[in-house]
Amino acid sequence: MAVASFTVRVPATSANLGPGFDALGLALGLYNTVRVEPAAALEVVVEGEGAAALPRDERSLLWRALCAAVERAGATPPTVRLVCHNRIPLARGLGSSSAAIVAGLLAGNRLAGDQLDRNALLALAVALEGHPDNVTPALLGGVRVCVQGEGGLSQVAVPLPRPLYAALFVPDHPLPTAEARRALPATVPLGDAVYNLGRAALLVAALATGEYRLLAEATRDRLHQPARARLFPALPTLLAAARAAGALGACLSGAGPSVLALAESAADAQRVAGALEAAAAGETVGGHSLVAEVGVGGAEVSA
Ligand code: HSE
Repeated sequence: MAVASFTVRVPATSANLGPGFDALGLALGLYNTVRVEPAAALEVVVEGEGAAALPRDERSLLWRALCAAVERAGATPPTVRLVCHNRIPLARGLGSSSAAIVAGLLAGNRLAGDQLDRNALLALAVALEGHPDNVTPALLGGVRVCVQGEGGLSQVAVPLPRPLYAALFVPDHPLPTAEARRALPATVPLGDAVYNLGRAALLVAALATGEYRLLAEATRDRLHQPARARLFPALPTLLAAARAAGALGACLSGAGPSVLALAESAADAQRVAGALEAAAAGETVGGHSLVAEVGVGGAEVSA
């Protein structure tokens, strides 16, 4: 298989959005890129986030996803050099593993002649990740509702009539998704399920209609955040600080520990980000803030 160099770019993602556990996610204007080049043997070069931690051999998630796409297309993976420029923090609830999976799948598909369509790639991505709410917006962009059913994945974009920005607080300490999922109760009271399903529906309608004032109520959750706050006790203080600083709504980003707060403008988001940093400092939680556009386009391959 002849290899011509190319680049894959994948956005960060935030899942759940409060009440939409495993069902809602959005793409953020913060990207990892991977340059794929011919090489005599597999080489993985990592710059930026995860440079010290990520495996640089066959254990690389990026490489394993690449192989999955090539093999699904009926070919044999070629040896390549994968030069990663990572800006998505690892194990912070910002979709770093989904970004690796999507980048690997797109790279593998390009190497195998782009035989797999987006639906096939998405199905592979969900199978590798185990839940759809990060990989779907990472691959397709936007704000997405995604539901894994018996007949496969049902997913649809939620159109945003006006721009939306994220203020993110990224703690220094990681929280692996597996650990954050183990913290969840096996069953929930009916009242909590009802609390969430109303807010998940409200959230989708508020976003689609531009009734962003409804996000204050629509981003509240009782299914996963209370249990996860036991792993990250500063969470309620940070959420309250974001809301007090004028955020439209605030929630745990994915499995955490990052916090996602929404704002109508980049300037508002910047102000909320400052309030999140101040509140975290008050709780002696180390970390940094970021501002990113919400609902950007999905992963792309370019020359
Ligand atoms: N929906 C998943 C969870 C997202 O909350 O565990 C993980 O990023």
